[in-house]
Amino acid sequence: MKIAVGTDHGGYPLKEAVIQAVQQAGHEVLDLGTHVIERVDYPDFGILVGEAVRSGQADRGIAICGSGVGVSITVNKMKGVYGAVCHDTYTAHQGVEHDNMNVLCLGGRVVGTELAMDIVKAFLGAEFLNTGNYLKRVMMVQGLEARECGQPQGENNE
Ligand code: RB5
Repeated sequence: MKIAVGTDHGGYPLKEAVIQAVQQAGHEVLDLGTHVIERVDYPDFGILVGEAVRSGQADRGIAICGSGVGVSITVNKMKGVYGAVCHDTYTAHQGVEHDNMNVLCLGGRVVGTELAMDIVKAFLGAEFLNTGNYLKRVMMVQGLEARECGQPQGENNE
């Protein structure tokens, strides 16, 4: 898979370890910055990651800020993008398996590099179960999304 990775300055210290974990798991990285430690705004990087996933440029995303919360709130405003803060490996794989999470959000001020790498590998190794109640619940969320957000940009309304 191709994995979009984006961080603000709060997430930047985790970025190299996250990139390494993605590569060790056999996936390709789309590095969307930030590329320096100077202060930036987390929504810019959440949006870059969300847009890469939504457009199909990336299969999944990893968005990192200081706590993981800012980028999580940001990506969840984007239709078709489902992100959550996961600071343990169970949540990271179960979020994909049960909830179809496609963006992992991490807090660079919360988890260390070794745990972050394990979390990334748990996220990337999981697949959505896509059946029964799991599918029904994801479709319920998508119904809410359609009601709240309307048609996504570029979608044909006919
Ligand atoms: C930046 O100081 C910090 O607010 C940001 O990285 C993030 O934690 C927001 O959720």
